Amino acid sequence: MVKAKIAVLVSGGGTNLQALIDAQNKGIIKSGEIALVISNNADAYALTRAYNNNIPQKVVLKSVLGSQEKFEDEIVKYLEEFQIDIIVLAGFMSILSEKFTSKYPKRILNVHPSLIPSFCGKGFYGLKVHEEVLKYGVKITGATVHYVNEVPDGGEIILQKAVNICRNDTPQSLQQRVMRVAEWKILPKAVEMVSCQISKGKDKK
Ligand code: GAR
Repeated sequence: MVKAKIAVLVSGGGTNLQALIDAQNKGIIKSGEIALVISNNADAYALTRAYNNNIPQKVVLKSVLGSQEKFEDEIVKYLEEFQIDIIVLAGFMSILSEKFTSKYPKRILNVHPSLIPSFCGKGFYGLKVHEEVLKYGVKITGATVHYVNEVPDGGEIILQKAVNICRNDTPQSLQQRVMRVAEWKILPKAVEMVSCQISKGKDKK
C-alpha cells in the first residue's frame, strides 16, 4: 500500500497535531503518514511537537513574504517539494484564498470547534467560538471536520461530534472538553478516511 502523504498546517499549541501523531503511532491512521508540518507562527508549540517526532517543519510568515499570494505560493512550494496529497488545517488561523483552495479540491481538511453551520465563518476561531456559544446559551455544541473550499467553514462536512454544555462552563473549560471529547477523536478518524481513499487511488497508478 502506498500511503497518502499528509501536511499539517498549524498556528499555535498543536494539540490536534498531537492527536494525529498519536493516532499514527497507534495505527488509527494507517493509510497516511504525516510528512510535513507548516506553521504561520514561528513561536507555535506545534513546531516543538513536530520536532520531537522527527517530522520536517517549515515556518511561513506573511509578514516576511509581504502578501497573501506570496505566503500561499511559499506553502504550495513546500507542499510540492514534499509531494503532499492531503492538507490538514489543525488550528491554522489564516483564511486561504480561492486560488489556493481550488488547487486542492477535496484534499484540504479543517477541524472547527463547533457544530457547523452554527458559530462558524469569518471571525469564529479558537476561544472566540466557545465564548459565543456560551453567550448564546445553546445546550449542545461540538466539533466538525470538513473539506475546505472558498467559503470559510463552508465545505462539505466529513464528521461531527456533539458535546454537552455544563452549567458552570467557562470558554476555557468548554474548549478543553470539545477538544478532548470531539476534536481529538474525529480529526484522526476523518484523516484516515480520506487517506484510505487517496492511498487506494495511488495503488492503482
Ligand atoms: C482548536 O480548537 C481548533 O478547532 C481551532 O483552534 C484550536 C487549535 O488548537 N480552530 C479554529 O478555530 C479554526 N477556525 P490546537 O493548536 O491545540 O490544535
